[in-house]
Amino acid sequence: MSRTRVHNFAVSLDGFGSGEPQSLEAPFGHAGQRLHEWMFATRFWGPEGATGVDDAFAQQHGAGFGAEIMGANKFGPPGWPDDPAWRGWWGEDPPFHTPTFVLTHHPREPLEMAGGTTFHFLDASPAEALEVARAAAGGLDVRIGGGAAVVRDFLAAGLVDHAHLVVVPIVLGRGTRVWDGLEALEDAYAVEAVSSPSGVTHLTLTRRR
Ligand SMILES: NC(=O)c1ccc[n+]([C@@H]2O[C@H](COP(=O)([O-])OP(=O)(O)OC[C@H]3O[C@@H](n4cnc5c(N)ncnc54)[C@H](OP(=O)(O)O)[C@@H]3O)[C@@H](O)[C@H]2O)c1
Repeated sequence: MSRTRVHNFAVSLDGFGSGEPQSLEAPFGHAGQRLHEWMFATRFWGPEGATGVDDAFAQQHGAGFGAEIMGANKFGPPGWPDDPAWRGWWGEDPPFHTPTFVLTHHPREPLEMAGGTTFHFLDASPAEALEVARAAAGGLDVRIGGGAAVVRDFLAAGLVDHAHLVVVPIVLGRGTRVWDGLEALEDAYAVEAVSSPSGVTHLTLTRRR
């Protein structure tokens, strides 16, 4: 059965999935690249990268997905809906290679990119968006790709079957939080943690059946 999964979603010790302010020059705001340095050091990211526990988790990002759902603030910097030429951060061959559904209050026509990625723009509830993405995923899983608000909304709606979050040992102090409003989330999930020598902690949340 098609599952809904989050992978490689990085949060600071104080629970922020992004810094602020987000801009074209600083997509993660004052967090810079610090939330993802653990991933850039892996073989998943590049051939010179290390194997090991971080790589083993990171590799799951691509396994078994037929569609992605992301938020408007992951797709582009503030103001992108006013720029008809904006085609995402990732160039002409984005790394999704599946139908990719961008939740936005400013929908536009689909964008067909190289490599199998087509961006579809949806103004819909999480449950409605998931239904559309599932239908497009051809029986494979749907990745909830972020950012923080979208991961939080899908967790809040009880729509996530499995989540892998990576707690990075930095304190951001401000930004967009993942956990707000998700009181007692642990009641609905089996939670496991694996510490890596790199200093990050991999958390997995697997929904109790
Ligand atoms: N930590 C990580 O691993 C990770 C991973 C991916 C991305 N990020 C970062 O996270 C940041 C973005 O996260 P974020 O929390 O600011 O925003 P986000 O989750 O990407 O997007 C939130 C926005 O999406 C639109 N949206 C969400 N749900 C909607 C719905 N049901 N219907 C219509 N529109 C909806 C709204 O934008 P509008 O009202 O403007 O349309 C909303 O403000 C970026 O900096 C990105 O680089 C972090």
